[in-house]
Amino acid sequence: MKTVLKIFAWVAGVLLFVVLAFVSFVLLKWDQKYDAPYPELSATSDSTMIARGKYLVYGPAHCSVCHNSMDKMEALERGEMLPLAGGMEFVFEPGTLRSRNLTPDEETGIGKLTDAEIARVMRYSVGADGRPLFPLMPFQNMSDSDVIAIISYLRSQEKVKNEIKPSEYSFLGKAILALGMIKPEGPIETPPTTIAVEPTPVYGKYLANSVANCVGCHSPRDLMSGAFIGPKFSGGLILEDVPGAPFITPNLTPDPETGVMANWTEDAFIERFRAGKVYENTPMPWSSFGNMSDVDLRALYRYIMSLDPVSNKVEKTPYMLEVGASE
Ligand code: HEC
Ligand code: HEC
Repeated sequence: MKTVLKIFAWVAGVLLFVVLAFVSFVLLKWDQKYDAPYPELSATSDSTMIARGKYLVYGPAHCSVCHNSMDKMEALERGEMLPLAGGMEFVFEPGTLRSRNLTPDEETGIGKLTDAEIARVMRYSVGADGRPLFPLMPFQNMSDSDVIAIISYLRSQEKVKNEIKPSEYSFLGKAILALGMIKPEGPIETPPTTIAVEPTPVYGKYLANSVANCVGCHSPRDLMSGAFIGPKFSGGLILEDVPGAPFITPNLTPDPETGVMANWTEDAFIERFRAGKVYENTPMPWSSFGNMSDVDLRALYRYIMSLDPVSNKVEKTPYMLEVGASE
């Protein structure tokens, strides 16, 4: 009996040691900073570039819906071009992330950040202070010209003083950071200098993967690390951390049986985007995407229809079935 107790005490001691060592490791290491190159891109006052930046910010890149607080969503949905004063809270298990004020205010906005620092956020997913950012802004492969256009537009906005509290991480979030599961991520290859805006699959591929993040929501992913774990655009990602209900993303590939768009014509696709959201609280930024030009929507359609069909039946969540049925 005594031996059993001794072994038990020994095992408990080892376990306690391991737990304490892990906790201290996490607490010491979560706040680690990273280095990443500063892109040599600078803002311009060229009006065509500023107009392109504005289009991207309120349209395909949808910075506007994340970089404003919840109470501004209705106005944005009505088409008001509100300045990007920040304040949206993303509450999920790893913590509470708060989108920053992107107006040129010196104290509370991007007034004190350099163009290269902002470009680095977009290209390497790393904050100006070197902290790695959770993968909400996958703009790594955006063209030089579009990154410049966006920064130029941000600089041209009116200044709004709006102090945003820093993001906070739970113990799980800190453990993820300490273990280096979230790291700055750079472009997969040298990003294009410019990209031709025309209704082609090439431009559609660029929009879906490097600007509008269709790929990020409409693909199977590991929710902790964000890694892609199945065929891209085949849907099935469950989005839990949305007020209201869990959502699941449909399969966009042109599979005749399981792809949601397989039977849509190009015009039907455009009409669907002009019509806006069907589900209250849907995480898909329908209002921004509704601002997209016909050229951009045609390009997206032609790219999506050129993908290999993937058979993946996605069952709607109970909430989606309920709202869908009441239409
Ligand atoms: C899906 C939501 C979402 C979208 C879309 C989005 N952002 Fe963000 N952004 C955030 C959140 C959340 C943070 C705060 C991240 C943190 O603190 O870890 C942030 C932070 C930032 C920061 C500050 C990083 C730092 O140094 O602290 C910049 C700059 C920025 N975003 C620019 C943009 C631009 C430009 C766009 C559009 C091209 C954009 N964001 C689109 C959610 C978003
Ligand atoms: C933040 C996540 C997110 C992003 C980004 C996103 N989607 Fe979605 N999408 C969803 C969700 C969730 C649904 C199901 C709920 C709904 O229809 O609103 C959906 C539904 C759809 C549907 C089906 C609509 C219908 O009426 O059946 C299409 C088509 C679609 N998305 C295309 C796209 C395209 C194209 C892009 C990029 C331009 C995109 N999505 C970006 C989350 C997203």
